[in-house]
Amino acid sequence: MDTTVYSDADIYGQKLTSAEFARIQLFIHDNCGIKLPVTKKSMVEGRLRKRLKTLGIGSYTEYLSLVFESSDTAGEDEKLRLIDAITTNKTDFFREPNHFVYLTEKLLPLLTADGAGTKRCLNVWSSACSTGEEPYTLAMVLAEFFGIDGNFRVYASDINCTVLERAVSGIYRMEKIAAVPAAFKMKYLMRSKTDRTLARIRPELREKVSFGRLNLMDDVYRLPVQMDVSFCRNVIIYFDTETQQNIINRICAATAPGGYVFLGHSESVHGMQIAARPVAPTILKRI
Ligand SMILES: C[S@@+](CC[C@H](N)C(=O)[O-])C[C@H]1O[C@@H](n2cnc3c(N)ncnc32)[C@H](O)[C@@H]1O
Repeated sequence: MDTTVYSDADIYGQKLTSAEFARIQLFIHDNCGIKLPVTKKSMVEGRLRKRLKTLGIGSYTEYLSLVFESSDTAGEDEKLRLIDAITTNKTDFFREPNHFVYLTEKLLPLLTADGAGTKRCLNVWSSACSTGEEPYTLAMVLAEFFGIDGNFRVYASDINCTVLERAVSGIYRMEKIAAVPAAFKMKYLMRSKTDRTLARIRPELREKVSFGRLNLMDDVYRLPVQMDVSFCRNVIIYFDTETQQNIINRICAATAPGGYVFLGHSESVHGMQIAARPVAPTILKRI
């Protein structure tokens, strides 16, 4: 067994060749839809350096041979880790807070008119959920509206397995939960007794959220139900316009007619042919 330990200095001096970077660009574009311009080469080198260290591999060339040349499951597993390393996962509780105000004040009263949330389950989807702050925020907002025993469920998905594992745990550093209103913190979070720097989402709220891996590039989204509300925020920004339009249309297909789709504040569907119309900035109603 090779027990060589590579230091930062060993790996630091190395660069991806243009051909190696092009191979990663193609793989990431084909599999995740994400465009990686040449300006991102140093970022990619930095993120892969961590994988090289973890795996005890001394060069990018050897790493890419593991990812693309090995016929066993190690190569397939590492393809997933490569995707995990490249995706950007920045998120926060109550990010873009006016969305949650609009949902509570305008949409939930409309959606509940047919008994959603009481007589039938109200289903909400966070389609690029990262480490879970967005779906847990949705669960808190819905629990406030309907009560924790209300008839609602949050589905949450992402392409990145590493962030999904963290999301399922529902454990966050105290500084991460600073954006959660104090009254919600009291009700829905509990501080660790053994490590005061950590807090965890309470089990009764975690039970309201289901996590699974879903690639927005897939032709069909296999979800258990049609959604009343779908969040697709701060993810299509990484895709080209044609891919964005295809994804929004698949998100619309996964959303019940009359339901709503939320995009990130800097995302736009201007000029796209989609099965939804805007009702407020970055909020669409499924036709
Ligand atoms: C910047 S985070 C946004 C998180 C959250 N929606 C928010 O607005 O705070 C983008 C997320 O999209 C995920 N992502 C990127 N490409 C994806 C794809 N093809 N399918 C599903 N998720 C993807 C990333 O893994 C990452 O967790």
